[in-house]
Amino acid sequence: MADYYKQHWIDIDAGRHAAYDQILAYHPALEPLIKALDLKPGLKVLDVGSGPGHTTLELARRVGLSGKVTGVDINAEFVALAGKRAKDAGLKADYIQSPFPPLKFADRWFDRVWCKNVLEYVDSSSDTVAEMARVTASGGVVVAIDSDWDMIALEIGAAARERTERILAASKAIAVHEPRIGRRLHGLFCDAGLTEVKAEILAGADTVGRALPMLKSSFARYARDSGKVEPREVDAWLEDVDSAVAAGRFFFVLPQFVVRGIKR
Ligand SMILES: C[S@@+](CC[C@H](N)C(=O)[O-])C[C@H]1O[C@@H](n2cnc3c(N)ncnc32)[C@H](O)[C@@H]1O
Repeated sequence: MADYYKQHWIDIDAGRHAAYDQILAYHPALEPLIKALDLKPGLKVLDVGSGPGHTTLELARRVGLSGKVTGVDINAEFVALAGKRAKDAGLKADYIQSPFPPLKFADRWFDRVWCKNVLEYVDSSSDTVAEMARVTASGGVVVAIDSDWDMIALEIGAAARERTERILAASKAIAVHEPRIGRRLHGLFCDAGLTEVKAEILAGADTVGRALPMLKSSFARYARDSGKVEPREVDAWLEDVDSAVAAGRFFFVLPQFVVRGIKR
C-alpha cells in the first residue's frame, strides 16, 4: 500500500491503541523537551499530531486555565480519547480531527507550536513545518522532536543481527514517509523562515526492554505488513528480543532530535 505510512494512523486496532497509550504516556524524560517550549500561563499552544494526548495534557497544565492547548490529529479515536482525558483532568484542551498539511488555523494564531514524533509520517514534512511557522505568532516558539530511522541501534545478540537488520529495513520501507526526518529538521526550520534555530540530540540507552511495546506494536507489525518478512520470522525475532531482555543483553537507542526556532 503506497500510503501505508498514513493509513496505519487512520485505522488503529484496539491492541495498538492500548500499546500507544503505553508508548506515548508521559514520562519525566520529556521535561527537557517541554522546557524548550518556554510555556507560561495564558499562552495559546498547538500540538500538531497530538495522538492519545498524554503530552498535550502536560502542555495544558503549564498554560493553565487562562491559556489553551489545541490538539490536531488524523485519528478520530485519539481525538475522542484525548478530549475525554482533558475533560476528566479539568484542563483546557480542545482536539480537532484533521489530516495535515495544511493546518486549518489562521496565520499567527498560536504562541507556541509543538510537534513530537509526527513529521516522519506526513505527506510533506517541509509543508507541515512551513504551516507550523505560519500559524505561530511573532516572537512565538516552535519545537519539533523526531527520531531518525537510520540512527537506530538495536543489539540483541550476534545470531539475531542479520534478522534484526531485515526487520528494521522492512518496517522502515512502509511505516514512514521520511525516515531521516531527525537530521532534516534543522534545515526545515531554517527553510520555513524560523530564526535562532537550535538542534540537540537526546539519546538514552534502553538496556531493560522499556521499548518492548514499541518493538512489538510498531516495528514487528510494520515488518509483517510489509510482506517482505515471513510472519514466522517476525515471531522468531520477537522471541530473540524477549530472550535478550531476559538475559540482560538487550540494547536499544532511538535518538531524539529536538529542534527549536523563533518566529519573527
Ligand atoms: C507517534 S504518534 C505521536 C503522538 C504524540 N505527538 C505524542 O508524542 O504522544 C504520531 C501521531 O501523528 C498522527 N499523524 C500521523 N500522520 C498524520 C497526518 N498526516 N495528519 C494528522 N495527524 C497525523 C498520528 O495519528 C499519531 O497520533
